[in-house]
Amino acid sequence: MKTQVCVIGGGPSGLLLSQLLHLKGIDTVVLEKHSREYVLGRIRAGVLEHGFAKLMREAQCGERMDREGEIHEGFLIAHDGRLDRIDLHGLSGGNSVVVYGQTELTRDLYDARARLKGTVIHDVEDVRLNDLHSGRPSVSYRQGDEVVQIECDYVIGADGFHGVSRKAIPRTVLREYEKLYPFGWLGVLSRTKPVSPELIYARHERGFALCSLRSQVLSRYYIQVPLTDSVDDWADDAFWAELKRRLPDEVAARLLTGPSIEKSIAPLRSFVAEPMRYGRLFLAGDAAHIVPPTGARGLNSAASDIYYLYHAMLAHYQRGDDSGLDGYSAKALARVWKAQRFSWWMTMLLHTFPDRIDYERKLQQTDLDYLLSSEVAQRSLAENYVGLPF
Ligand code: APR
Ligand code: PHB
Repeated sequence: MKTQVCVIGGGPSGLLLSQLLHLKGIDTVVLEKHSREYVLGRIRAGVLEHGFAKLMREAQCGERMDREGEIHEGFLIAHDGRLDRIDLHGLSGGNSVVVYGQTELTRDLYDARARLKGTVIHDVEDVRLNDLHSGRPSVSYRQGDEVVQIECDYVIGADGFHGVSRKAIPRTVLREYEKLYPFGWLGVLSRTKPVSPELIYARHERGFALCSLRSQVLSRYYIQVPLTDSVDDWADDAFWAELKRRLPDEVAARLLTGPSIEKSIAPLRSFVAEPMRYGRLFLAGDAAHIVPPTGARGLNSAASDIYYLYHAMLAHYQRGDDSGLDGYSAKALARVWKAQRFSWWMTMLLHTFPDRIDYERKLQQTDLDYLLSSEVAQRSLAENYVGLPF
């Protein structure tokens, strides 16, 4: 088999890039380890920055997002029994975010790929990247007993944190930066009316909590838990009781509870791999970087990778100009690190750290006091939350 761009990974990053390139006449093949149902069964975050939403529209995948997604012009910070609002729209010069589940977004991307008859091959095993430093790289995979080889011009590693692409870069070249946090988020999805029309990020000495939503009838809540906890330790009642304890009384009083439809624990991690290019391989999205979910940057941090790669590929195929491809890693990493800084900062600001010394606790309190009393500090938060320009 032959293609121009072989994309490893059928998550949002790989599908979006494949769709954008296809619309410009560039041939792609997407290889996905799991079935479509499996990929669409994963519950992920649900806040899109305006730049990502714009890319979805450019990829002709924005119709349902624009119809069903909710525009959020602000969010709330709960602390010390009260609520303060961050006016994203006013503070960022008119920008906002779209609340639209990543699961729905991925479904739209799969539908779009199918509409254009794009090649997406599921259930591939033993994916291998070959000859990345030659002019003719290839990717091989196994499906059942059959081994298939795809010859291509470029390979995109969009196979998430646990994928194989990053591992194809030799250890002598690859540098990894990682920070692990001593807690995870226990998330619950419930078919209940959200407690607040806007997201509430809650700082509390018992631990962080977040009230989010997928729609007006579907709520998503999280609480910070020790890494040693498992989902079985948290019956629904225990979850709701703990969430209420971490919210201001007036919010807890109107929280509607119900059976959980999904419950999972995700550890928090910050991670960056450098460089994001090795020969003919280009990494994108979670394959190259991970953020803790506090600033809702996960997918948004992938958006700029896709945008830069898309334009770099267009310049190469349409004008023979390789400057975008050559500059990709440095350009992508510059924005990736800004998203890292912001996610780390929001995580440090809002969580309870078991081993923090009193001095650090005082600094954390001061950081929050400063934020809530300074318009300049809030502007910085808003600018980062709606998404820095690509
Ligand atoms: N071969 C082929 N596909 C693979 C392989 C492999 N060896 N390993 C993993 N994959 C697939 C996964 O099954 C997954 O569907 O690659 C896909 C990667 O998708 P994501 O993990 O969703 O990563 P990405 O597309 O970069 O999305 C960015 O934003 O909100 C964040 O972390 C969140 O999903 C998220 C991300
Ligand atoms: C979510 O809705 O899942 C969500 C929202 C905001 C975040 C993280 C997760 O910061």
